[in-house]
Amino acid sequence: MAEIKKITTNTLQRMKANGEKISMLTAYDFSFAKIIDNANIDVILVGDSASNVMAGHETTLPITLEQMIYHASAVMRAINRCLVVVDLPFGSYQSNSEIALASAIRIMKETGAHAIKLEGGQEVLESVKRIISAGIPVMGHLGLTPQSIYKFGTYNVRAKEKDEANKLRSDAKLLEEAGCFGIVLEKIPAQLAKEVTESLSIPTIGIGAGKFCDGQVLVMHDMLGINTEFKPRFLRQYLNLYEQANHAVQQYITDIKSGDFPSDNESY
Ligand code: KIV
Repeated sequence: MAEIKKITTNTLQRMKANGEKISMLTAYDFSFAKIIDNANIDVILVGDSASNVMAGHETTLPITLEQMIYHASAVMRAINRCLVVVDLPFGSYQSNSEIALASAIRIMKETGAHAIKLEGGQEVLESVKRIISAGIPVMGHLGLTPQSIYKFGTYNVRAKEKDEANKLRSDAKLLEEAGCFGIVLEKIPAQLAKEVTESLSIPTIGIGAGKFCDGQVLVMHDMLGINTEFKPRFLRQYLNLYEQANHAVQQYITDIKSGDFPSDNESY
């Protein structure tokens, strides 16, 4: 059997240098992680969007470190090739850098994942440096940072105004200098994402940040059409899985009620 070439943070740096786009998608469980890894995705993000799409919460704030560890462990049991990045959930890193490092260590030790992601720039810089100094790769996340939704008040495009755009430019540089291996840019103007992407030697991964980023990420439930209520402009839906699964379940119910299932061939 041919040896599988595993994706590392170094692979992502090389991809940026060679102009090869990076593909990233969220996953939260064993079965979907297997499908996604076998499709040859570069990066799986065990996102704290699990709070929305797996647990049904309105925001990402309620999910706990224990729950992220549960999801990430299931994903790690499925994958062979891709790089797996796990979100540090709200409350597990904002207090101070000691707590942030302890949370990152728990993720790495208890799940076997390859890297962590956290939201913010200058505010979390000390934590970013401390986690990286412990040998843990860190991905940054700027722009619309959903853990701050109650500060923002809306999920609208961020950094349209000069001051916020300047802070984002400066935060991106700080994260690169601190040693982050990549940065997610969420819901910012495409021209700003282009400028930031060109100014950095580490890859940017966009979601609602236009075509100039070094890679793209979407939430799996959104792109597969499992989550039917969420239809932002940036989302490309590749399947209508909600409808297909709903039809399959309706047919199953019909077959039971009519006595069609199970048939003699499906019996012992
Ligand atoms: O949690 C998540 O799914 C994310 C992506 C939206 C980047 O952080």
